Amino acid sequence: MNKKIGILDSGIGGTTVLKEIINLLPKEDYVYYADNKNNPYGEKTPEEIYNIVDKIVEFLIKEKNCKMVVLACNTATTQCMKQLQEKYQNILFVGTVPAIKAACDNNYKNILVLATPVTITSKRTQELIRDNKKKNQQIILKSCDGLANAIEIKDKNKIYKILRNIQKELEGTKIDSIVLGCTHYPLIKKEFNEFFPNIPLLDGSLGVAKQVKRELEKKEILSGTGTGKIEYIYSKND
Ligand code: DGL
Repeated sequence: MNKKIGILDSGIGGTTVLKEIINLLPKEDYVYYADNKNNPYGEKTPEEIYNIVDKIVEFLIKEKNCKMVVLACNTATTQCMKQLQEKYQNILFVGTVPAIKAACDNNYKNILVLATPVTITSKRTQELIRDNKKKNQQIILKSCDGLANAIEIKDKNKIYKILRNIQKELEGTKIDSIVLGCTHYPLIKKEFNEFFPNIPLLDGSLGVAKQVKRELEKKEILSGTGTGKIEYIYSKND
């Protein structure tokens, strides 16, 4: 079976997930859809996000004949995953959510979760806290308005300005680990380390890659004949 795996995000963020998936599954072929025209997703309404993502999913299934769609975007996953699974019942979906479970399982006491405004206020994030937080743990939620877009357009000054503001707002707050709850954020790990030295950074990319492998194995639809080829599609080219 050599149908492709479709991966989508509002731009370059999902490449952090793609990298881990290819490491685990080098004999698959991939279509990576970077919806940079609609970036940032995290500052749109849930309806807008669903309508945008639904069209891309349809394209990946119908035009690109994908066997699986990976929502390599926390914002899209927290807003659309359930509805998409109901609509496209014959397609496998894997999504990414903030690595709150991993942080809690690691027994970090004071966990800072950084994500887009929509992810931070989502029901899914509340469920992750409810299901994983132990009594002695504290979760601090912080929405990073503008950060995903600044990373997407590689605006260094804006990235530094946003990180400086977050650092200032959290001055005096005890933090033992930081969950990078947006797939764009691992692209600036170096900058996070500058502003929050010696604090472990967690993200969900390896977990997603493992889940992709598990789901394909379970359905017995691993390719084995692919070559790790990636077709990149950008919704805006400039
Ligand atoms: N990379 C995305 C995420 O994981 C979306 C960022 C955005 O477009 O706001 O949330």
